[in-house]
Amino acid sequence: METAIKVENLSKKYRIGERLPYKTIREEIIKFFKREKKKNQQFIWALKNLSFEIKRGEVVGIIGPNGAGKTTLLKILSRITEPTDGYAEVYGRVGSLLEVGIGFHPELTGRENIYLNGAILGMKKKEIDKKFDEIVSFAELEKFLDTPVKYYSSGMYVRLAFSVAAHFEPDILLVDEVLAVGDISFQKKCLGKMETLTKEARTVLFVSHNMGAIESLCTKCIWLDKGKIVKISEDISKLIKEYVSSFFRNETSFQKKLKNEFFEVLSFNLIEKKDKPTIPVYLKNEDIGIEIELNVFEKNPRLSIGYALYENKSNVCLWWSFHVDVEPYILPCGNIILKTFIPSGLLNDGEYRIEMLAGIDGVGWILPPGNNQMVLKFIVKGGKIGSSMLSATKRPTLLFPALKWNFFKK
Ligand SMILES: Nc1ncnc2c1ncn2[C@@H]1O[C@H](COP(=O)(O)OP(=O)(O)OP(=O)(O)O)[C@@H](O)[C@H]1O
Ligand SMILES: [Mg+2]
Repeated sequence: METAIKVENLSKKYRIGERLPYKTIREEIIKFFKREKKKNQQFIWALKNLSFEIKRGEVVGIIGPNGAGKTTLLKILSRITEPTDGYAEVYGRVGSLLEVGIGFHPELTGRENIYLNGAILGMKKKEIDKKFDEIVSFAELEKFLDTPVKYYSSGMYVRLAFSVAAHFEPDILLVDEVLAVGDISFQKKCLGKMETLTKEARTVLFVSHNMGAIESLCTKCIWLDKGKIVKISEDISKLIKEYVSSFFRNETSFQKKLKNEFFEVLSFNLIEKKDKPTIPVYLKNEDIGIEIELNVFEKNPRLSIGYALYENKSNVCLWWSFHVDVEPYILPCGNIILKTFIPSGLLNDGEYRIEMLAGIDGVGWILPPGNNQMVLKFIVKGGKIGSSMLSATKRPTLLFPALKWNFFKK
């Protein structure tokens, strides 16, 4: 396949405290007073020795914590800034949507900026004319076409910028997190438009903190941290899990032991469908498995083993579940394994906690709710529950069940 982007030993050094592209009087005054102290300049490597290649038609997600270098990388690819070292070769017409403020002239109207951008991309007036209405209606800015863009709100600005970038048939589309500025309905529209572009075999580089969008749109993912590539992979969901769990690693334990007069817990694990202990991060469309291995000392028809599930931040208990809830089952003596699954398409993006429960029915708890001896934590993040992009984002609700709707025409 053809190469779309080739990056070789790319590095970018910034001076900390360097002047920002937009200076105001206020900034200038502050700078004036700080002048004497400025001797001790410090540098930061926003990118350090990046090498990778992207083929035409690939949709590449770029993830990483704040300050990882994601925007810097896109700025170099779109020639907004120069690398300090190394090089980036970009083949084809680039449409980019980076920070609010780049690419448009503030004094010009929306209409004029559309023509200006088209011209910069090397398009003829006729070609721009042909796309014009589509751009305007996608951006929903008909009423503000003849207003200078300096009067646009940041949301309006992003709508126009995305629409321009996506409709001028770029070979390569670079999109930064800016989508987050738009409202939810416009974000969805943009994700949908990007999905269409990806189907037309255009190359897309997409920076996002929305793991659902990354998971459902991208064919490859680059994880950046502190200016370096942590990992590049085409196994997007695995990469997302590793990335997400890198923030939580210390809070999770897979193996715990506990002994009482009724039983001994040999292990208390989160598992995947394949039965393997897993990185404790699940996509919305994955079942979450819980496995308890016990050594039971005495056969007791009233012994119930279960768990309580909490949303960890709010500490709201979502439910209790016991091994006898659906069918009575008397645990035999000796080594046994109990396994149960929280079905996919039920929990929202979030952090959850599972406490093991145990009790003798009608007598009392052995492991009551609120115990902190047997606790597992996991995260649900990313993934979508259906084919729609609507299900890829987090909702401001406790649960996010995948419920089917039917409709009948009367
Ligand atoms: N113009 C600049 N002058 C000085 N330092 C800069 C400049 N632009 C970026 N940096 C620094 O370079 C590093 C990488 O920044 P960058 O904006 O690329 O991160 P990012 O991954 O896009 O982060 P975020 O998720 O917050 O958008 C940061 O430490 C940032 O402070
Ligand atoms: Mg950024």
